[in-house]
Amino acid sequence: MGSGATRVIHRNLNHTYPTLVRGEGVYLWDADGNRYLDGSGGSAAVTSVGHAVPEIVDAIARQAAELAYAPTHAFSTRAIEDCARLIVEEFAPPGFGKVWFVSGGSEAVENAVKMALQFHRERGEGTRQVVIGRWGSYHGSTLGTLAWGGNAGRRRPYALALPHAEHISPCFPYRCWLRGKACPPCDLSCADQLERVIRQVGSENVAAFVVEPVVGATLGAVPAAPGYLAAVRETCDRHGVLLIADEVMTGFGRTGRNFAVDHWGVIPDLIACAKGIAGGYAPLGAVIARPEFVDQVRRGSGSFAIGHTAAGNPLSCATGTAVLRFIRDRGLVRNAAEVGAHLRSNLEELKDRHPIVGDVRGLGLLLGMELVRDRVTRTSFPPEMAVAKRVGSATLARGLVSYPGTGTVDGSSGDHLLYAPPLTITRSQADELVEILDESLAAVTEMIGP
Ligand SMILES: Cc1ncc(COP(=O)(O)O)c(C=O)c1O
Repeated sequence: MGSGATRVIHRNLNHTYPTLVRGEGVYLWDADGNRYLDGSGGSAAVTSVGHAVPEIVDAIARQAAELAYAPTHAFSTRAIEDCARLIVEEFAPPGFGKVWFVSGGSEAVENAVKMALQFHRERGEGTRQVVIGRWGSYHGSTLGTLAWGGNAGRRRPYALALPHAEHISPCFPYRCWLRGKACPPCDLSCADQLERVIRQVGSENVAAFVVEPVVGATLGAVPAAPGYLAAVRETCDRHGVLLIADEVMTGFGRTGRNFAVDHWGVIPDLIACAKGIAGGYAPLGAVIARPEFVDQVRRGSGSFAIGHTAAGNPLSCATGTAVLRFIRDRGLVRNAAEVGAHLRSNLEELKDRHPIVGDVRGLGLLLGMELVRDRVTRTSFPPEMAVAKRVGSATLARGLVSYPGTGTVDGSSGDHLLYAPPLTITRSQADELVEILDESLAAVTEMIGP
């Protein structure tokens, strides 16, 4: 359907989108019969178990027939209780005990921050209201999450309407903000910034530090450097600041562990999650909390001052339970680690053939590739060349969905591609992804010239 004929407000109002009609496993088909490998896992890192999985479809149908919606001000449901139990008992890091359900990632981060503010208030530390985030991170598209996030391009149009927030530099060894172009080995001076900002703002005013353990969409799969999360955890502890891990992209096996923080053994105070939890079959997000955190409010006011009509929706929660059981029973966390390592090493090989590939990075099946004009100086392409978008279009034309990103360097310039296929992907399907990307990089390199 042409862009003029549609009644939908699409992301790009001047683009005509092909119509998708079917998905199965890691593949999607459009109305013209073209097949696409879902290399980005949706937009992005959502389709954890692949498309049209019969077990999930059956579970959704059963729950819809039984009870699709419940008035949560008056009742609990089996669906919400089962999903919370599965998350806490089989996926969450040690020490977590309670789950608050929402509809997606922005709501999860927004609610985690509100819960943190309330926790402080009920302990008699109500001045703690400032949230510290990091430049180069994305926590969602509501005004609150945009403010705490540091995706400069997405914040800029709303800059004056955003609530107050503080930011420190990202932990980004390929483009260290503090030491120039490159920082391996990372000396963690970016972690020291947290201490400085807390002191400047006054620790009595700081509620929480929000961090993506692997920065997903904004920087293109940049994992925290070794020691970084332990360092910020220690700083938060010393100042009574809560550590909120944004695992919206990284949770539930995406990085080859249940949660990305498991790679470093660091335990946050709250975990915000969404995306892979229900694999795209239903809108679902969650905040996972330690029991003593919840107890503080239980003993005080008795309820968190948050709430959404769709929070704890039984259909979404039953979907989440079915997806998480599938991840557990099929060993998909291990598959993400194994096929992710295979995919990563094949993406690394593309560096040998394509000078525009500057860096390949990531963990498990959350992988990124940064594109540069000059690999030695790490100079990026001018934004107007839209190189990541061109590669994304080239892969799409060849049957691979990529997730191109721009603004990698400073919010304006810089290009990367994100790959986060379903955790079910096989080695040969991963090889297919690399083959299409290989051809597409060659085509775009020829198009843009030297
Ligand atoms: C790390 C992270 N946090 C939060 C969000 C926001 O999630 P949602 O788009 O479901 O609101 C995203 C979305 O991409 C994300 O990647």
